[in-house]
Amino acid sequence: MGNARPRLFRLKQDNAVINRMGFNNDGHAAVLQRLVARRARGGIVGVNIGANKDSADRMGDSVKGIEVFEEVASYITINISSPNTPGLRNLQGKADLQRLLERVNAVRKSKTPMLLKIAPDLAPDDLQDVASICAGGAVDGVIIANTTLSREGLHSPLAKEAGGLSGQPLFELSTRCLADFHDLSGGKIPLVGVGGIHDAASAQAKFKAGASLLQLYSALVYQGPGLVREICAGLSNGCCAAQSPR
Ligand SMILES: Cc1cc2nc3c(=O)[nH]c(=O)nc-3n(C[C@H](O)[C@H](O)[C@H](O)COP(=O)(O)O)c2cc1C
Repeated sequence: MGNARPRLFRLKQDNAVINRMGFNNDGHAAVLQRLVARRARGGIVGVNIGANKDSADRMGDSVKGIEVFEEVASYITINISSPNTPGLRNLQGKADLQRLLERVNAVRKSKTPMLLKIAPDLAPDDLQDVASICAGGAVDGVIIANTTLSREGLHSPLAKEAGGLSGQPLFELSTRCLADFHDLSGGKIPLVGVGGIHDAASAQAKFKAGASLLQLYSALVYQGPGLVREICAGLSNGCCAAQSPR
C-alpha cells in the first residue's frame, strides 16, 4: 500500500526527485510469483528488502525477505536506509546492525550475494562502525547510498516536501560517503555506487571513489532509459574530466 498520495515529486529545476513512497508493493507472495514467472528471461534481478512500517520485528522482516527471495534473486539488498519507514535507519547503529546481520546470515541457504544499502547521512563514527562490520565479512557488498534527508542547495518550490531526496543534488554527498567508506573498509568489499549519476563523467567519478558497480534511478526519469547506453559509451570512450569530490 505505501504512504498516502502524493508521495513522489519531480524537482525539475534541481534535476532531482523527492519520494516518500513507503515501500508500496503487493507483498512477498505476489512478488515471488511474478519473479518466478518472468525470471526465465534472464538478466540481473536484485531484490530489495526492508521492513513494514507497522512491523513489531523489523529485523524479522529482513529475515523473512531472505528466506522468500534468495533462491530467485541475482542478489539481495538489505535496505536499512530508507528515510520513509520510521525507525528503519536505526538498524544502521552498531549493535542493531551486528544483530541484524547475524540473524539474516543464520538463515541464508545459498550463495546469492547479500548487499547492505546505507544512507548518505550517516555520521562519521557510524560510518566507521558500519565499515568495520561489513569489512569483517558479514555481507558481500555495500550499496552507497540511499536518498538523503538533506535539502541543501535546492531551488525548486517542492524542496520542502517530506521524504528522501535523490538525483543530482545527491551526487556529491553520496560520492563522498562512497569514498570515505572505501577508505574505512580498506577496499576489502565490493561497493555499488549510486546517487546522482546523470552522465558518463558522474559515473566515472563513482568508480574513482571506489565503486565496482553502479546503479541509477532519478536521472532515468529526466533522460529516459537510453541514458544507460550513453553512459556506457562515454565510459568505454575513455571520457571524462574527473568529478570526484575526493
Ligand atoms: C521513487 C523512488 C523509490 C525508491 N525506492 C527505493 C526502495 O524501495 N529501496 C531502496 O533501497 N531505495 C529506493 N530508492 C532509492 C534509489 O534506489 C537510489 O538509492 C536513490 O534514488 C539515489 O540514486 P539516484 O540519485 O540515481 O536516484 C528509491 C528512489 C526513488 C526515486
